Amino acid sequence: MSSSAVELPRVTGTCPPLLTAAVRRAVRAGGSWQQTADRVVEALRGRLPGPGILSAEQLAGGPDGYRTHLVHAEPDGSFSIVVMVWRPGQRTPVHDHLTWCVTGVLQGTEYELVYANRGDHLEPVARNANPAGTVSGFAPPGDIHEVTNTGDGIAVSMHVYGTDITRVASSVRRVYAPPAPLTHPVPLQTPPALGAPTLARTTDISPATAPPPATIHPARPTASPSSLARNPRT
Ligand SMILES: [Fe+2]
Repeated sequence: MSSSAVELPRVTGTCPPLLTAAVRRAVRAGGSWQQTADRVVEALRGRLPGPGILSAEQLAGGPDGYRTHLVHAEPDGSFSIVVMVWRPGQRTPVHDHLTWCVTGVLQGTEYELVYANRGDHLEPVARNANPAGTVSGFAPPGDIHEVTNTGDGIAVSMHVYGTDITRVASSVRRVYAPPAPLTHPVPLQTPPALGAPTLARTTDISPATAPPPATIHPARPTASPSSLARNPRT
């Protein structure tokens, strides 16, 4: 009988102390996950570092998928900060999260597709084009999404998770089977419009962006949430 061990991430970089301190204050203020995410959005807003927070070697990315670099794990386990590097076309699987999450785009544009779980299938309900300078946050449930670098160059983003991934290995709650391609137009939000079907999300965008073109694919019957496998990189 074989066994496998989950590889736990290690801190391999550094995070600006003022940014870490601001996140710590936001987290320790308490309240609901959504309230915490909203405060962490404010903490990152105006404090996002440049992509130079990583080394040139790290910023090159990897050929086999986006790379994640853990730059801070709060000692009390209340949050972690990672920086991700995406080569053009690299993407996450469709997934959701264990806890609140706040994202800041440091370079390039990240394109996000948001799904609603309809029981027997996932329905795309919103799209977000998040250029450099965007800070957005959300809290589960209802946070099923996938992220892609649709640009021509390297994209870099900072992610703050309300858990310690050096202990739980990943912020991801569930990875879903690839959903059906889009069968109907889904509004592109930059930022999400009021009242639009999207995550309970706080978004700030600066500067303005040119969103990527929408691609509508032909129909495919169904795609059900299936796998409980975790993505160790997020
Ligand atoms: Fe995510």
